[in-house]
Amino acid sequence: MDAGAEPSDPQGRSSIEPDRGSLPRTVLVAYATRHGSTGEVARFIGDRLGTRGLAVDVVPARDVRGGVDGYDLVVLGGALYSGRWHRDAHRFLKRHRAELGKVPVAVFGMGPRNPTPDAFAGSRSQLARALARRDWLRPVATEVFGGVDPPSRHPERRRDARDWGVIEAWCYSVTARGTRVPTTDVPPSA
Ligand SMILES: Cc1cc2nc3c(=O)[nH]c(=O)nc-3n(C[C@H](O)[C@H](O)[C@H](O)COP(=O)(O)O)c2cc1C
Repeated sequence: MDAGAEPSDPQGRSSIEPDRGSLPRTVLVAYATRHGSTGEVARFIGDRLGTRGLAVDVVPARDVRGGVDGYDLVVLGGALYSGRWHRDAHRFLKRHRAELGKVPVAVFGMGPRNPTPDAFAGSRSQLARALARRDWLRPVATEVFGGVDPPSRHPERRRDARDWGVIEAWCYSVTARGTRVPTTDVPPSA
């Protein structure tokens, strides 16, 4: 059935559980970082999914030169800097556009170091603006995680707003969405 024809609840979500296809077995986690914290999150996601039996490659986005064919799921993470998503994340989407139309893509951004609701809302808007430039992309999930100060000479003062429990829950929820590529927008944080 066409997803658009399904009955919806007041939030606009389908009241019929869509057929999401089989569960992913192979995952590419590509990341775009300046100071390393996004890579740490990517490796954490790879590690958590690995413990669940998935075959995961964790690779800097700029180093993904071959295609992404053969993966059941792509997770793409990039740091936000001065309102923009890391250029390696953008380039990854441009370079692999054709293949990424055939595989589910989950996206995350890093994120406020002062994790207030307003700061998260601002960062989510920044990520949404970045993704709007790729209007062909239908991410299965989009999320912003708390960020980390760049390394400094005062490590004790370095803010780290990452919530590993949230990140872990998010990556499990993403794999539970199955391997079907959505044809309509998925609400942010879904
Ligand atoms: C100079 C600077 C500018 C930043 N600008 C933003 C921003 O506009 N939006 C945002 O959400 N986070 C912003 N951040 C937070 C980063 O996204 C966060 O520090 C992230 O963890 C950095 O990732 P990386 O260590 O992988 O480079 C900024 C951080 C720095 C140091």
